[in-house]
Amino acid sequence: MFDKSSFEEMKKEIESLLEGRKDKLEPICQYLYDHVPYYNWVGFYLVDGSKKLRLGPYVGEPTVHTTISFGQGICGQAAQTKHNFVIQDVTKETNYLSCSPDVKSEIVIPMMKNGKVIGELDIDSHYLSPFDEKDEAFLEWICKILTSE
Ligand code: SME
Repeated sequence: MFDKSSFEEMKKEIESLLEGRKDKLEPICQYLYDHVPYYNWVGFYLVDGSKKLRLGPYVGEPTVHTTISFGQGICGQAAQTKHNFVIQDVTKETNYLSCSPDVKSEIVIPMMKNGKVIGELDIDSHYLSPFDEKDEAFLEWICKILTSE
């Protein structure tokens, strides 16, 4: 069983993994996918100039949702509201874009720079209700280090 207290150790590993790297997003996706058993799709959406999200680096099954408008789906709502979205059961959502029938839950953390959303970290899980405030804090920490340079 995965113990969420490992997030603290993982933060240190992530810091060394990213040190001196310009392409940080892809290694983060791979690291999270490899280390957290219930992170079954890990990717970034990046905001383009026209209130749209475009799929960036990801690890997991290919998705048809390569462009998402603000407001659309969980990702678009997170971008529009600048809030984290933690969805423990996607079947309960009306504004949701399905990528795969295997996905049961999802967490989306916006990446902010100067008060604006510049992208987001999106994680899908094949498990129901796997996310808690520890995941949220860990993933917020990741988004912060990515935007703080
Ligand atoms: N489920 C997302 C779409 C993106 S996939 O999870 C990769 C949503 O509802 O916005």
